[in-house]
Amino acid sequence: MSTDQHQPGTIAPLDPAAREPYYRQIYLRFRSAIGSGLLKPGDRIPSARALTKELGLSRGTIETAYALLTAEGYIQPRGQAGTIVTPGLKPQAEAAPVTSRPEAPPPSYRPDTVRPFQMGLPALDAFPRKIWARLGARCIRAMQPIDMAHPPVLGLPALRTEIATYLQVSRGIDCRPAQVFLTSGYRHTMELIGHALLQPGDQVWMEDPGYPPTRELLAHMRAEAIPVPVDGDGMIVAEGIAAAPGARAAVVTPAHQSPLCVALSLPRRMALLEWAARSEAWIVEDDYDGEYRYISRPLPALKSMDRDGRVLYSGTFSKVLFPGIRLAYLVVPEAQVARFEDVSRVLTGGPPQLTQAIVTAFIREGHFARHIQRMRKLYAERRDATAAGLRSVLGRQLRIDTPPGGMHLILRLPEGQSDRALAARIRADGMYAEALSAWTVRGDSPPALLLNFTNIEDEHAAAALGERISKLL
Ligand SMILES: Cc1ncc(COP(=O)(O)O)c(C=O)c1O
Repeated sequence: MSTDQHQPGTIAPLDPAAREPYYRQIYLRFRSAIGSGLLKPGDRIPSARALTKELGLSRGTIETAYALLTAEGYIQPRGQAGTIVTPGLKPQAEAAPVTSRPEAPPPSYRPDTVRPFQMGLPALDAFPRKIWARLGARCIRAMQPIDMAHPPVLGLPALRTEIATYLQVSRGIDCRPAQVFLTSGYRHTMELIGHALLQPGDQVWMEDPGYPPTRELLAHMRAEAIPVPVDGDGMIVAEGIAAAPGARAAVVTPAHQSPLCVALSLPRRMALLEWAARSEAWIVEDDYDGEYRYISRPLPALKSMDRDGRVLYSGTFSKVLFPGIRLAYLVVPEAQVARFEDVSRVLTGGPPQLTQAIVTAFIREGHFARHIQRMRKLYAERRDATAAGLRSVLGRQLRIDTPPGGMHLILRLPEGQSDRALAARIRADGMYAEALSAWTVRGDSPPALLLNFTNIEDEHAAAALGERISKLL
């Protein structure tokens, strides 16, 4: 039973020109809210006194409406405890569910519970919640009135400095804090880039297979996405040049190609940078999980080799902290700072101040570096345990690739099988999988499933899930 009081402040003024007298307008509003299920049995409604004040009417008008609702059994006065919607009352008609248009395909699949193998999630059980809570409480206590006003549009200066330092040390990127722009995630980052540097009709290379939101974003910007195939060395730059030499930009995931997890080789990096410098094109480096490499040290970012100021570096806290935080950043070339400041001032309200303050403290006090180190070790273990558990059950039917980095495994299906159909069956069974073919533009990828391993605790759990998948094959 809900004890929420429906605040009088939410009630719109009545219509003085309506045919119905005021008491009846109030009566009808409550009756319709109860009938549609918006007000549920047990919900508290405003007291007659509060509503009198809120609507500026006489107390008698409100009491007449409430008396009518009481007489018809819609509400019950409970003395000191207030007036509530009668418990056990059945709504007459279900409130219309709030849904998106049925014909619109969901841009990304987001189940409402955390599912085994769910893509894009770090190990949620291993996040240092106690430390986070302590820092959060401290940041709230330290809040000054100015911290409750609008946040700085480009990001908290202290956080921009922490990020610049972290990128210098960990990713080899030499940048000033002024080049770091805080955003609410990859999509927001791309939106800023699109507004600052792209025009409708521009050609943009994207990896094929590649991260589906990139495709959606480019389509929304009315840019022409040019699919560029990927092999064991990452995006085949020569094919991009052959297909669209005059493209305005290229979006790449050099550390672990999304979703094949291969690294962009050094010769390809050089070729990409040369092409961009020669044709004055932009490179968007999506470094969404570059920290998580298990067989050797993380590779330096492509941005660290950017001598001509062509690379825009997109980083995110979604993988190294958690995606619910909605905090990411963009590093722009020095010469583009003024342009991005202008665009950000139009498009951005500034990320939440309190969240940024907590992240600043988390980085500054060493928790961030420690957390990443711990996760690197944990993910290497979970990757191997998940692969071993799945192999023990599915090894004869499927090939399981364990990539050198990243957060997911690739399960290769026999030629001719539909990965989309199997992914749909796995989802219907309460687990999660993505079909590799859904990540391709040309639709010619061999069938495979993408399964995140970061939340699979051990080999035993993986084998049990493998059994479930086996039944669906
Ligand atoms: C390829 C790729 N880029 C970027 C992101 C980060 O997105 P966001 O910062 O919006 O969480 C993800 C997250 O899953 C990703 O897989």
